[in-house]
Amino acid sequence: MKDKIVLVTGANAGIGKETAFRLAEMGSHVILVCRNEKKGIKALDEIKEKTSNENLDLMICDFASLKSIKDFVKNFKKKYKKLDVLINNHGSFSIRKILTEDGIESTFAVNHLGYFSLTLQLLDLLKASSYSRIVNVASSSNYSVKSLNIDDYNWEKRRYKLMDAYAESKIYNIMFTFMLSEKLKGTGITANCLHPGYVKTNIGLNNFLLRLIAPLVKMGAISTEEGAKTSLYLATSEEIEGVTGVYYHRMKLREPNSLALDQKAQQKLWDVSLELTGLAKDLV
Ligand SMILES: NC(=O)c1ccc[n+]([C@@H]2O[C@H](COP(=O)([O-])OP(=O)(O)OC[C@H]3O[C@@H](n4cnc5c(N)ncnc54)[C@H](OP(=O)(O)O)[C@@H]3O)[C@@H](O)[C@H]2O)c1
Repeated sequence: MKDKIVLVTGANAGIGKETAFRLAEMGSHVILVCRNEKKGIKALDEIKEKTSNENLDLMICDFASLKSIKDFVKNFKKKYKKLDVLINNHGSFSIRKILTEDGIESTFAVNHLGYFSLTLQLLDLLKASSYSRIVNVASSSNYSVKSLNIDDYNWEKRRYKLMDAYAESKIYNIMFTFMLSEKLKGTGITANCLHPGYVKTNIGLNNFLLRLIAPLVKMGAISTEEGAKTSLYLATSEEIEGVTGVYYHRMKLREPNSLALDQKAQQKLWDVSLELTGLAKDLV
């Protein structure tokens, strides 16, 4: 992985920070993408100090804003002419329904459209590399989805439930990965996704109530070191060179929720996502 250009989103905390750290240790040129500059600088300095890798960069993007993603891509392309590995890792959930500045429910916007929009806009740079791997961090919560509600991404026909909104966004990560991998066949770019395991991180803990129950909820959770292993495996292992369109569940190849395999639904999600992001159809 030495000198490979690797972008990790949500790299200032949890699994993303550990992933960035391990890649920096391997000698990769790691771009940490974070929404908060202060937190980003702290993580960057910590990783630099631990690894002595000088080829680390911090760039700012708020995945809750389609404009922020566009601006980020523009800045990224000014600095970099190719990308070897894209790790879509950022993620969040919200205890109540919040609409983003684009008028989109925030969990769907950040967790799904964030991955979709960033990836499509960086495909030209991935095509410029001969390594080209896309890794999408999904979640085992995909198994709890009982039916797909792609039309109701804004929760207008149902009562908003935080874990359902999160689980839907995570099954969408898998559906997006599968459809993308099909569309990218023959380009040399692979796209895979994963559940990292149940990891001790601060996800969702921006809420007081969730912070209160966190010690209970996080009992039995694995370390971030353990939790980053599957992302790192998919990003770096020679064993899966050329493998595309798979879901790994904590280091093991697995079938996701069968709903994720529905190609009509994948296409619908793709079309809705294209319409919401306003991206051109021919980016893939
Ligand atoms: N932890 C688990 O048990 C578990 C299980 C299954 C899947 N996952 C998945 O693993 C991934 C990493 O989560 P984690 O557990 O490591 O959580 P985490 O420690 O909370 O890290 C999440 C990262 O995403 C960033 N982020 C959130 N919203 C963002 C936005 N709008 N724009 C830019 N960055 C944003 C956070 O930035 P801030 O620090 O600024 O908030 C943070 O850097 C997520 O995709 C999650 O769904 C986690």
